[in-house]
Amino acid sequence: MKTELCETLGIEFPIFAFTHCRDVAAAVSRAGGLGVLGALAFTPEQLEIELSWIDEHCGGKPYGVDVVMPVKTADRDAGIHETRDLAKQLYGMIDQAHWDYADKILADHGVPPLPDDDTGGADMGGGLVGEGVLGWTEASGSPLIDVALGHDIALLASALGPPPKEAIDRAHAQGVQVAALIGRVEQAIRDVQQGVDIVIAQGYEAGGHTGEVATMVLVPDVVDAIAPVPVLAAGGIGSGRQMAAAMALGAQGVWTGSIWLTTTESNTGDIAMEKLLQARSSDTVRSRALTGKPARQLRTAWTEAWEAPGSPGTLPMPLQFILNSKAMRRIQRSANRELTGMPVGQIVSRMNEVRPVKDVVYDMVEEYIETMTRLSAGLQTS
Ligand SMILES: Cc1cc2nc3c(=O)[nH]c(=O)nc-3n(C[C@H](O)[C@H](O)[C@H](O)COP(=O)(O)O)c2cc1C
Repeated sequence: MKTELCETLGIEFPIFAFTHCRDVAAAVSRAGGLGVLGALAFTPEQLEIELSWIDEHCGGKPYGVDVVMPVKTADRDAGIHETRDLAKQLYGMIDQAHWDYADKILADHGVPPLPDDDTGGADMGGGLVGEGVLGWTEASGSPLIDVALGHDIALLASALGPPPKEAIDRAHAQGVQVAALIGRVEQAIRDVQQGVDIVIAQGYEAGGHTGEVATMVLVPDVVDAIAPVPVLAAGGIGSGRQMAAAMALGAQGVWTGSIWLTTTESNTGDIAMEKLLQARSSDTVRSRALTGKPARQLRTAWTEAWEAPGSPGTLPMPLQFILNSKAMRRIQRSANRELTGMPVGQIVSRMNEVRPVKDVVYDMVEEYIETMTRLSAGLQTS
């Protein structure tokens, strides 16, 4: 099952695992896939610690790092390209009606305000991550790329837009492959022109930010449009049969995210874990309520409220996430079940038990091989 991309990256199976959890990333790489750590929620200093930990725990196997480089955000539109005063400037763009509406949603569900000693965010003293800005912007994402390229990574991936040209050149000079997530054929062509080596075609059914085209339709269109550039299929893949389908569409591997949330190694919180294990595909919704861009997630009282009559509408990225992250701190503190959510794809219907990463990888490989054997046996007898 080795594809050319496996040779290029030095991995055994063409299974790529996006995760925010270092334990999952290291475990996937040790099992023969490629663990990719999402850097978004870390400060550059924290990311340095996470990557040093992975260096020590991935058994010398390759791993990657993922950053978010949105082409369009409120700060970019306002011509802001520096992290100095970024949080303050972004907070200044959020009107009172939106703060009030977020407070009202929480009050309606009995979530109390934060205690006086929890001032993170409100006093602008928590740094960009503490303020809920995270690496959502070009300005806050770029320092994360610097940290990532300071480690011996095999892959640098980016979502919502390609990494800056200068970062791509630096990655290439270090022998690092560069990948970008896309949801439309035109974005794939743009990213290849920018120097991206691997395109991740992510369909509508995926967890996190998605476009409107389903994986089944998107993957072959992207494969044909940018050949011979390798394509990974993403969205709705968590089993060997789904992997076989992705390879049949012309992908050189699969890029997965949701399936790792319910692994033993994952740091998913208790309430979210319980909800994921019970959820059906139809319990997910593609909503702007989390970040300001459409992202698939569990349907919750929070996502419903932003769609309800009386909602002032969501704000653009990263402003909506700032509102959201302050609310989430309150929701977590009060352990409110109705409001607890999580980005996850439609494949959540198959995530019904907590399993070790290694079992997920091996089951996927085994079922893939069985499927391919079944399909070729069918061909021989017909
Ligand atoms: C909880 C969660 C968070 C995600 N965050 C990011 C992210 O920060 N950057 C990114 O490139 N993709 C992110 N994604 C998307 C994944 O990289 C991946 O493309 C997607 O999960 C694949 O579809 P699947 O969920 O059906 O496996 C996220 C997905 C999930 C489930």
